[in-house]
Amino acid sequence: MITAVVYSESGGTYKTTTTANLAVALTRMGLDVCVIDLDPQEGNLTSLFDVGTRRNDPDADNLVKHILGMPDGPFTDLIETSDEGVDVIPSHDMLSDFTSNLEQKIAYETGMKNMSKEDYPRYELLHNLLWNENQLHEQYDAVLIDPNARAEDLLYNAIFALRTLMAPVKPAGKGNLSLDGLDEMVANMSKELDIQIGLSCVVPSGIGQTNAHQQYHKQFQETDEFETPVAIAYRESLMDAMWEARGSAFKVIEERWKTFEEDGAMVSKPGYRRIRDRELETLRDICKLAAFIATETFDAEIASEVVVEIEGKGTERFSVGTKTEEVEVTTS
Ligand SMILES: Nc1ncnc2c1ncn2[C@@H]1O[C@H](COP(=O)(O)OP(=O)(O)O)[C@@H](O)[C@H]1O
Ligand SMILES: [Mg+2]
Repeated sequence: MITAVVYSESGGTYKTTTTANLAVALTRMGLDVCVIDLDPQEGNLTSLFDVGTRRNDPDADNLVKHILGMPDGPFTDLIETSDEGVDVIPSHDMLSDFTSNLEQKIAYETGMKNMSKEDYPRYELLHNLLWNENQLHEQYDAVLIDPNARAEDLLYNAIFALRTLMAPVKPAGKGNLSLDGLDEMVANMSKELDIQIGLSCVVPSGIGQTNAHQQYHKQFQETDEFETPVAIAYRESLMDAMWEARGSAFKVIEERWKTFEEDGAMVSKPGYRRIRDRELETLRDICKLAAFIATETFDAEIASEVVVEIEGKGTERFSVGTKTEEVEVTTS
């Protein structure tokens, strides 16, 4: 079972983009994948994958009601399948009030049982919901979470439930490693939650051609402190088009989504994108990252290649090495 929280201390580090692309890559490697969206803000994975139509409806059943033990229906009814075959437990507005609702539950339950609030297992609720009450490990090969970095209770619940982190990082100003705090953070969380937390890998993302960015990338490649199986290049046009295609970078390229000016207005349409080698290279890097997490971190079995069928262009096959082999691109 693959379980990973896509973690970052700050926003805008391509967390949602990375989670979505990883989920689709793993699906294309033959795995059953579920993504849990814990971010209630606009521009989250739920809107990217075009699910969660009732995320603003307070009467709709949602994950928060289930975590707090007050569901309106069966857990499986929360799950929606995206166009690309990834199952999603969508975000809901109620995630914003999670802590205050949790505090009420804790006050009530500890009061009833005459127990200290500090003894309440506030970070174990998602773990119990996913693995004890609903046996998600029987349905899925991989569960990923896109958390909201600032929501401590939800983030800690996510980490307690999944135990493994992968961390996309963006080049910080003046090329310094913005990661000095990561080890410390993992240690603090392990201590606070009293569990072992693993760091699968760190993924420098949005790496451009400038000297500062290349230098930054090099620093990551050279460190022994953590694994950096790939860096994801700066690909604004490709990744932004995901929001038009409502899906992964694979979908953008396969359906050839492009944003352009037409009769004085900006439009986005499938069938127009020019396929560039560098964008195929980025898909290849995403596959390499997914394969690393699946096989190196978790010892899972995956298909030996990922097939990308490009509209009007034919097929690209990314062969995905098992363990330590390189991922190669062949064109047919
Ligand atoms: N490799 C990349 N290069 C350039 N822009 C990117 C890249 N990946 C994602 N983006 C863009 O950056 C913005 C923020 O990404 P997002 O994944 O939503 O970040 P987060 O979830 O960490 O807030 C989006 O507009 C996205 O399209
Ligand atoms: Mg996000």
